[in-house]
Amino acid sequence: MKVVVTGSASGMGAAVAERLGGAGWDVLGVDRGGDGIRADLSTAEGRASAAAAVEERAEGAIDAVVACAGIGLPSPDPAAIVSVNFFGVRDLLTPLVPLLAAAPAPKAVVVVSNSAAIIPDVPGDLVGVLLDGDEARARELAVEAGDIMAYAASKLAISRWLRRASVSPEWAGAGIRLNGIAPGATRTPMLDRADADPTMLEMSRLMPVPAGREGTSAQIAALAEVLVSPVADLLLGQIIFHDGGTEALVRGEHWPSQWSMGLR
Ligand code: NAI
Repeated sequence: MKVVVTGSASGMGAAVAERLGGAGWDVLGVDRGGDGIRADLSTAEGRASAAAAVEERAEGAIDAVVACAGIGLPSPDPAAIVSVNFFGVRDLLTPLVPLLAAAPAPKAVVVVSNSAAIIPDVPGDLVGVLLDGDEARARELAVEAGDIMAYAASKLAISRWLRRASVSPEWAGAGIRLNGIAPGATRTPMLDRADADPTMLEMSRLMPVPAGREGTSAQIAALAEVLVSPVADLLLGQIIFHDGGTEALVRGEHWPSQWSMGLR
């Protein structure tokens, strides 16, 4: 069984690669650093070269993809945030669809973030431009929005893309199960860097977490293993919030919500 893991050089991606590797998967890591396929997912050329390198090693099929690569907060480069966190996922996964479709029970998992749901007032124009696929304009709007809003917008947009793609003929019709994991604060090098910034540390202290503790990359890896296993054969288009209850606390009334077809 072959799995592509992006962001495999650090944090959650490294934990996923280790766990699945230990369970006997043949892991193709993709990262700008580390031992696997080296590629810069912030550029179209980097994404294309990563997809080509995967295709070369795939021998016709891949059973799963777990996309963990991402840029966190704080960041001096909000444009890179949208390039990596949105296009670095969409435009790497899309060319891998034929390889996934060639496997017997293919799965794809994207690590998004609970920021997609819990950060208020995310700029809708940036989310819209991302979903339209206009990377140049998205990078401009990201700079205007600043790193925090660029991050939240990138994660909201990739979550929406995931929900749309997961049920499409190209994905669901090809037998691929596409789901997401939305972590809250999870102890990785990314969170270590955030904690070193006083504003970020304050933001995370103010964040209500009903469970009262942060997560680990090992928990995310265990969840990813479930989502690429036969247990998830009927799980499709779902985003599992692994955040100690923050999303349920902040947005609990928003989903599920009643809707109307105007019948009464
Ligand atoms: P990390 O910083 O430990 O690892 C991220 C990996 O992505 C690194 O190996 C890095 O080299 C790679 N990467 C970044 N930019 C890249 C690029 N341009 N091209 C190729 N690879 C690139 O971070 P962590 O915590 O493991 O994050 C994994 C995912 O989880 C990210 O998408 C992040 O946004 C998300 N997340 C993390 C949370 C946390 O508290 N750690 C909370 C919510 C979401």
